[in-house]
Amino acid sequence: RTWPQDVGIIAMEVYFPAQFVDQAELEDFDGVSKGKYTIGLGQTRMGFCSDCEDINSLCLTALTQLMEKTGIDYTSIGRLEVGTETLVDKSKSVKSFLMTAFAASGNSDVEGVDSTNACYGGTAALFNAVNWVESSAWDGRYAVVVAGDIAVYASGAARPTSGAGAIAMLVGPNAPLVLDRGVRSSHMNHSYDFYKPVMSSEYPIVDGKLSIRCYFAALDSCYKTYLSKARKHLDEEVKSLADFKAVLFHTPYCKLVQKSFARLAYNDFRCLSPEAAAALHPSLTAFRDLPLEDTYFNRDIEQAFMASSEEAFLTQTKPSLLLATEVGNMYTPSLYGALASFLAGYSADPDSLVGSRLCLFSYGSGLASTMYSIVIKSGLAQQRLGADVRLPSSNGQAGWSLSQLVSSLSDLQQRLASRQKVPPQIYSDIMKLRESTHHLAPYKPVGCTSSLLPGTWYLTYIDDLHRRQYERVP
Ligand code: HMG
Repeated sequence: RTWPQDVGIIAMEVYFPAQFVDQAELEDFDGVSKGKYTIGLGQTRMGFCSDCEDINSLCLTALTQLMEKTGIDYTSIGRLEVGTETLVDKSKSVKSFLMTAFAASGNSDVEGVDSTNACYGGTAALFNAVNWVESSAWDGRYAVVVAGDIAVYASGAARPTSGAGAIAMLVGPNAPLVLDRGVRSSHMNHSYDFYKPVMSSEYPIVDGKLSIRCYFAALDSCYKTYLSKARKHLDEEVKSLADFKAVLFHTPYCKLVQKSFARLAYNDFRCLSPEAAAALHPSLTAFRDLPLEDTYFNRDIEQAFMASSEEAFLTQTKPSLLLATEVGNMYTPSLYGALASFLAGYSADPDSLVGSRLCLFSYGSGLASTMYSIVIKSGLAQQRLGADVRLPSSNGQAGWSLSQLVSSLSDLQQRLASRQKVPPQIYSDIMKLRESTHHLAPYKPVGCTSSLLPGTWYLTYIDDLHRRQYERVP
């Protein structure tokens, strides 16, 4: 067998809840100062689920809609990976539940289970899928990755950084979004910044300030390692932020991403010669040689680099924040929501992206983080796969190309706009309901299903042995 070429993401499907709460209304409701959530955190709306959606239903919706959109047969999938930190069971995987979608096809030869480490699970699942296609175990079929979470916090400072959603991705060779080889750069460490030790609760224990410190430390470390690997392993020169078409981040809230972009600009500044640094920021040269860990909350550095990198941020990162601003932190799908948002912005001219390199930073508390890059190709995934593994065409073209991937995401804005707005009081009542019924069995969800869109799976019943039943909106 020849080594498969251009392994990466072929198609994507994004699912987010059909209802949201407005962050400005939430500021009033919570009695915080005006602008705290909308300007201070950079959030506009927040998606949430009632008690009739759970992690299985979210992931099942994303998976089945991906399969229907691409027209691919379930027998053509040889690996299914799930990334999630929303556990409804300490033993049975979400992946095993998703096998219900494969039942009619008779295909049970599907490797993969769940990956869990806070928001990093989606990236771990994607790497597992890519590694499989590139390995001696690959049998010529596609892999699917599903990243999904219901991100909820107890009422208080962290609650406006909630969200929910699931993203499914088809992975294989000759893809439009190709993962660069040899440059994945990780930073793994022990930290109690955000964790979920209480099995009876959906809520994490979170130390907000520590989590931001950990996120920045991981970002600095991954970027440094990435640049040194890029020097060795990439043909093109990649030595600073300017060498990427876009820089995409795990997005707990949008303001942190703007600060993170500025932080990478500060990292670039530290690599300049003293003369070049003095020419760029004469008043900041003294900050160049500070230990990085002393600079995370330095306002002078933050403000100077937020200002000087703003223009680049607006073109390289801001367009990727559509889903994060509108839905919130989706946890494991967050980074892939950034990728989908970025791609959706190019629906008028997807081919202009060919040859571009994207930088992606994945972070999961606890902590696990990786920076990696994707190169965009025109990608006709079908062309060089085995005859038995064919992606049907959705528009008469062979396979799934970059333009099909991008155009399949072009309705994101319109889908976000058609969601139902729910007043903060009702949102708060639904959170209380989720709190009091979490892990209850037997239980019949009382949440309204009328807002769910056609094709959405939902939870109908949990029996006295905690076995869950689902139905799909026709
Ligand atoms: P807080 O302590 O209430 O907020 O919680 P604050 O008082 O620090 O205010 C936030 C910002 O708003 C500040 O700006 C304020 O000045 C500003 P900053 O100092 O950041 O520049 N502000 C205003 N701006 C305009 N008008 C106003 C106003 N008032 C205040 N009126 C915190 C904030 C993020 C800590 C909290 O929401 C939290 O704990 N969230 C959850 C943890 C989190 O998101 N951490 C991020 C990194 S860790 C991560 O990404 C992993 C994660 O996704 C989990 C996983 O991996 O699974 C979370």
